[in-house]
Amino acid sequence: MKSIYNSNWIEPGYDLGDKVCVFSKKFDLNGTVSRAELQITSFGVYEAHINGKRVGDFILAPGWTNYRKRLQFQTYDIAELIGSNNEISVSVGRGWLMHYKDDLSAALIASVEIYYDNGEKEIIYTDDSWTVGLSKIQYSNIYNGDIYDASFVDESPCFATIKDMDKKMLIEQQGEKIVEVEKLPVKKIFSTPQGDICIDFGQNMTGYVEFNICGKKGEQAVIYHAETLDADGNFYTANLRSAKQEIRFICDGRLHTYKPIHSFQGFRYIKLENWSDEIKAENFKAIVVHSDIKRTGYFECSDELVNKLYSNIIWGQRGNFLDVPTDCPQRDERLGWTGDAQVFIRTAALNFDVNKFFEKWLSDLSSCQNADGGVPHVIPDLQWRDDSSSGWADAAVICPWQLYLTYGNKKVLARQFDSMCKWVNYIKNHSNNYLWDTGKHFADWLCLDENDSSKKHATPVELISTAFFAYSTSLLIKSGNVLGIDMSEYEALLSNIRQAYRKAFLDKYGRVNCNTQTGCALTIYFNLSPDKQAAAKQLNSLVKECGHLKTGFLGTPYLLHALSENGYAQTAYDLLLRREYPSWLYSVTMGATTIWEHWDSLKPDGTMWSTGMNSFNHYAYGAVGDWIFSVAAGINIDEALPGFRHIIFKPVTDSRLSFVKAGILTKYGEVKSSWRKEGSLTEYSFTVPHPCTATVYVGGEAKIVSGGTYKFKEEIQ
Ligand code: BGC
Repeated sequence: MKSIYNSNWIEPGYDLGDKVCVFSKKFDLNGTVSRAELQITSFGVYEAHINGKRVGDFILAPGWTNYRKRLQFQTYDIAELIGSNNEISVSVGRGWLMHYKDDLSAALIASVEIYYDNGEKEIIYTDDSWTVGLSKIQYSNIYNGDIYDASFVDESPCFATIKDMDKKMLIEQQGEKIVEVEKLPVKKIFSTPQGDICIDFGQNMTGYVEFNICGKKGEQAVIYHAETLDADGNFYTANLRSAKQEIRFICDGRLHTYKPIHSFQGFRYIKLENWSDEIKAENFKAIVVHSDIKRTGYFECSDELVNKLYSNIIWGQRGNFLDVPTDCPQRDERLGWTGDAQVFIRTAALNFDVNKFFEKWLSDLSSCQNADGGVPHVIPDLQWRDDSSSGWADAAVICPWQLYLTYGNKKVLARQFDSMCKWVNYIKNHSNNYLWDTGKHFADWLCLDENDSSKKHATPVELISTAFFAYSTSLLIKSGNVLGIDMSEYEALLSNIRQAYRKAFLDKYGRVNCNTQTGCALTIYFNLSPDKQAAAKQLNSLVKECGHLKTGFLGTPYLLHALSENGYAQTAYDLLLRREYPSWLYSVTMGATTIWEHWDSLKPDGTMWSTGMNSFNHYAYGAVGDWIFSVAAGINIDEALPGFRHIIFKPVTDSRLSFVKAGILTKYGEVKSSWRKEGSLTEYSFTVPHPCTATVYVGGEAKIVSGGTYKFKEEIQ
């Protein structure tokens, strides 16, 4: 057993609130060290130093899990950091603990294991011989930012208090660590019409600013963070709601380099106030911070706006994969909304290796699941006691299945299977005659076919819920089959749901009664119509009639697939390539550098959708990335041999694009697909890593190939 389990929880002995404290301990060594290790975690977020040097590079450690049941601890090799006389100091701020109100307060637990050359071993535990004092960071809050007093010194640190607390929730680091990924230089320093001095970093992002500051003693310099400017070009923070995102630095007249260590912001612009130093670009860097996920997907085509859209999808993911898949990184939310995560996971898993990231989040999901199988809206759970929502809670089934498809991860299916069954059983118990017509749901969130007077979405909630009931059941059956479990009970259930769905929501020709894009897209993609072609024809006419998409969070991921899989690829491309509102490229034409929460977060006249709920960094609509890879570039996973063991190449070209190029780094090597038009020919190239095989569909023929690169030519008709 790891020694941290024998250590003690220690705390300051007073309520820390939003203050930051520093725990310290001096220790000497008695011999030559062969190995030294620090095991450590905290309630709150910590940063550890030994002899003034930073331990590891994990930002906001220990990350965010379901703190009531699961708290990750980290293990660091510290042999290089220690000498004969040492001091370890650990700064602890409240971090995500702020969500846990009264029952959890900031605390630290650690053990330092020292192995000497002579075979002896010594362990230093956290206990009441450690001291604790207040940090120069006088205030730190993940939404509001920091107050740092450069001249503050706590003259009277005291001994830490041992806290009698369970250690059963301690688990080894399961997810990815959070790291600093990139430093962005200043793009522009400018004055707004209101006279504010601002800096533009050119990219909406998540992280913090590192700055050099001298200032005058006692002067409080402030940095405000914002995602956007308003229609007049002024600094705009109304969409942050109560999140202040401010860094206040109280100067001592000496030069300092500062960056927050226990808070983060979502921003592209900063505003400086009380800045008596000369404002020079080299004194400011925006540090991009996210989970240490490896980039795997690349895409490029002949349309620069589509390329920018893809870049915005990547930045949307970078901005919101900070230990938990969050809805947004800036306003007073930043939560692991299940719906957003399931909507985006297919794209996310192609862009980056998110296998470990989601394994950890799914473990939190099952640990937060209610006894009746219900899944909270956000994971980690904030103990809201609402009903589980269709399309949101279905993340319990959709996400593990996607990890199986993209990475061939069978273990996660086995680990989550019980949770997946519990979720489907929950729906069964809340449905009537196989229709899920009870409870409160977010439905096709932010869709464009909402009736203004009734505020009701045109796609009935019961249709959406029952469609997801069928979809989750179908994925559960597939998962059970992979695991060799008898799924006949669920097969019977699925057949009953389908029949009930047809009776309630489809006409006798298999078309969707509500006549909405989302209704059709879900019916088609979830295999719910006896005549898919009839439903696809209906969807195509609906899009053609209005000329644009109307879908919200739940319909959008399937809209283009439902069209292109059924002979309407041209219409799908029309939607992808449309530049006017509403469309994916509209935000690009408006200067977006990330994906917006609304199709019109910023309206054509520069005004905002609303002040209340208007994020400029919400990845959900970036779900189109998966269609770009699988249809425009034609790289598809074979369910029978997942993880790209067998690849299905089936690109669909379009006359408005002259080339498309994509690559996905898989565990077998890079899968590549490209096509280019030369005169009357389209040239294709496909790369299959060894030992994979692939089926290539070009010119109406299917060819089976093994590892290697293959080129094909096709005459354009
Ligand atoms: C979040 C969403 C989320 C939703 C639930 C919002 O406040 O930002 O992305 O899914 O609530 O409807």
